[in-house]
Amino acid sequence: MEKRQELYAGKAKSVFRTDDPDKMVLMFRDDTSAFDGKRIEQLDRKGMVNNKFNAFIMTKLQEAGIPTHFEALLSDNESLVKNLDMMPVECVVRNVAAGSLCRRLGVEEGITLTPPTFELFLKNDALGDPMINESHVESFGWAKADDLAKAKALTYKVNDVLKAIFAEGGMILVDYKLEFGLYKGEVLLGDEFSPDGCRLWDAQTKEKLDKDRFRQGLGGVIEAYEDVGRRIGIDFDA
Ligand code: TMP
Ligand code: ASP
Repeated sequence: MEKRQELYAGKAKSVFRTDDPDKMVLMFRDDTSAFDGKRIEQLDRKGMVNNKFNAFIMTKLQEAGIPTHFEALLSDNESLVKNLDMMPVECVVRNVAAGSLCRRLGVEEGITLTPPTFELFLKNDALGDPMINESHVESFGWAKADDLAKAKALTYKVNDVLKAIFAEGGMILVDYKLEFGLYKGEVLLGDEFSPDGCRLWDAQTKEKLDKDRFRQGLGGVIEAYEDVGRRIGIDFDA
């Protein structure tokens, strides 16, 4: 497999073509962004940590029967993935109230949500990733209704698998964002799962161990990501 020219540079990852049109290389950079790209900083080791974190989680999800684009870890900062036709929507499940839910609805951070909520956002930084609903997705052709239904069902299934993994490491999975795409007609989980796209709190102290440390200027961002990783059994030196 040969890595070819860069196709696209996102806020934290770059995507490269390979000599196989069905496969791409994801390169995880040290760039860390918040507030729809309005703030970007480089954090040492971040690319490596998120690449290995994502590889570990995608493998666990695949073992649990959730189809993902992940193929293989290629290096500290790169992974091989399937080339998906991405839906431009973000699927968010929340187990506990935090972030934009609290701002939008005026609810207190930390309230348990039973059942967990499911929300959709349009992937559009210029518009600030506005919240949308299922009918928007269909009317604007961002995805077919049955593909969106599959993505939604997979998003909930991910919750069962990951809540248990993080609970074993003494953490609460507060919320997370997933992105899906189509590969030869099948809906697969794409993008990444790392502490950049979820909220994780220590179960005892409620300490924030995710990108809110960066958003809120709490410091120790990558140290927290590594701590989360070690608590669920990731060896970042491997
Ligand atoms: P929110 O509280 O800002 O709506 O975010 C909910 C969760 O989804 C949180 O874990 C962060 C994640 N998320 C992203 O990673 N990127 C995004 O663009 C959005 C809208 C959410
Ligand atoms: N939307 C992501 C966040 O809230 C990334 C970004 O805003 O740049 O952190």
